[in-house]
Amino acid sequence: MKATVEATPNIAVVKYWGKRDTRLMLPLNSSISITLDDTLKTRTTVEFSKNFREDELVLNGQKHALKDEQKRQLDIVRKRAKISLNAKIASENFLPTAAGFASSASGMAALAIAASKAAGLDLSSRELSMLARIGSGSACRSVLGGFVEWQAGNNADGLDSFAIQIAQESHWPELRNIITIVDARQKKVPSRTGMQRTVETSKLFKKRIQTIGDTLSGMKTAILKKDFEKFAIITMQESNSLHSVMLDTFPPIIYLSDASKEVMEAIHSLNEENGKIIAAYTFDAGPNAHVFTLQKYENEVKKALQMPEVKETITCKVGSGPKLINTP
Ligand code: PMV
Repeated sequence: MKATVEATPNIAVVKYWGKRDTRLMLPLNSSISITLDDTLKTRTTVEFSKNFREDELVLNGQKHALKDEQKRQLDIVRKRAKISLNAKIASENFLPTAAGFASSASGMAALAIAASKAAGLDLSSRELSMLARIGSGSACRSVLGGFVEWQAGNNADGLDSFAIQIAQESHWPELRNIITIVDARQKKVPSRTGMQRTVETSKLFKKRIQTIGDTLSGMKTAILKKDFEKFAIITMQESNSLHSVMLDTFPPIIYLSDASKEVMEAIHSLNEENGKIIAAYTFDAGPNAHVFTLQKYENEVKKALQMPEVKETITCKVGSGPKLINTP
């Protein structure tokens, strides 16, 4: 009973930050993301066997203790499949771990799908999304390709909180995401701790939640119309809103570094020089930028990003979502 799955990160353009239920990973707001292609990916093999004396996790060749959320995902799968076998998870990240590149999203999505397949379950994308969500909120969006919305839902049991596809990856093939690395170290405050502190202490966060409905509908329209200027403006303003709320958290959470701010300024200068918007930045729980642009501007944007603060850039297109490499 073994399956291998590859999943890729997603980058949110309307961000998830703050939970209404920390155990079920239920968010306070819906979010929208773009699943990236397999330039960066996590490959995870799950095997259930009576030969294993306990659950085991080997991450990038090294043995690790399973996180509670990973254990919970496995338990849900075992219960559904009516099996009581232990599992061996072997996972490899083809991306810098925990630098705000959503490696938890690709990892937890790959685990959810591989575990359910290895147990012989044939879950719908909605069920897989909810299973991935238990591992890490943003992972529920990585079970689908293209443009994805995680609908926050209202129910206490979380059965209405899952991701749906807004548009397929082929909808906007010209879109590029240039991952702009200024610092590849691990993030200081895990998003899980950070977002709860925000919910508990930030007054600005309440305002953000009140107005995020307009941001979500504006973003959906921009994506469906492939209106890059509108998409870019909402993306940058939304990232800035998130990081303002982080600073309004007490004690404050500061993910943006001086280098991040240099990147932001470089993008604004580039747009100004062009007399139109050709690039947009967004930042998650880390200092590295995700810079969106269109294929025709890619070289120009990369040139603008050639600055001492930028260590490396990795360009991704919109991806098609997880792949099953083999089945039992
Ligand atoms: O699911 P987590 O705990 O990795 O939280 C992700 C939070 C952000 O990346 C900052 C925003 C998002 O929607 O992906």
